[in-house]
Amino acid sequence: MAKLLDQWHAEHVVFARLLDLFDTQIAAFHDGERPNYELMTDIVDYLRRYGDSFHHPREDAAFGRLVARDPDMRLPVNRLLQEHRVIARASDELLERLGEIADDVMTTRSDVEMAAATYLVYYRHHLATEERRVMPRARDLLSEEDWAAAQAATPEAPDPLTDADFSDHYRELRQYLAQHAKR
Ligand SMILES: [Fe+2]
Ligand SMILES: [Fe+2]
Repeated sequence: MAKLLDQWHAEHVVFARLLDLFDTQIAAFHDGERPNYELMTDIVDYLRRYGDSFHHPREDAAFGRLVARDPDMRLPVNRLLQEHRVIARASDELLERLGEIADDVMTTRSDVEMAAATYLVYYRHHLATEERRVMPRARDLLSEEDWAAAQAATPEAPDPLTDADFSDHYRELRQYLAQHAKR
């Protein structure tokens, strides 16, 4: 059942790639160019919906059990669980700023850049901590029963980025990823 770890790692690779892509758009924005706002919104919205609804709740369940197996993991795990909430809040804030730009509502450049920087810093640090510090311990210590509980924390859900049934979702993002698949 440690296959969940493999799935998480694969998802982290995708998440990191999306954060890098978002970063290139923010860099364009910073330089006064017009970034692809639809693509930026797709990225944050995808991570908000898929990440927060399916990826994070299973981690919450698995990491909670890890603390029971190794009390030394309490501090790093508590931070990760808190970061799941902070990332969700930062995503909402960022989506709001991007929505203001789309609606031509007055929003300052620095507000957008600040929301983006907070989001990127938190998310990247979060992924790195999980990969380096927590997932290896989970692989060593969690039992089949622990993994089954983590799996059961959310229902099975297709990934809207890869599932054909979602062809109308995240059109801009899917198109971009398809065009840049070989990079
Ligand atoms: Fe996480
Ligand atoms: Fe994760």
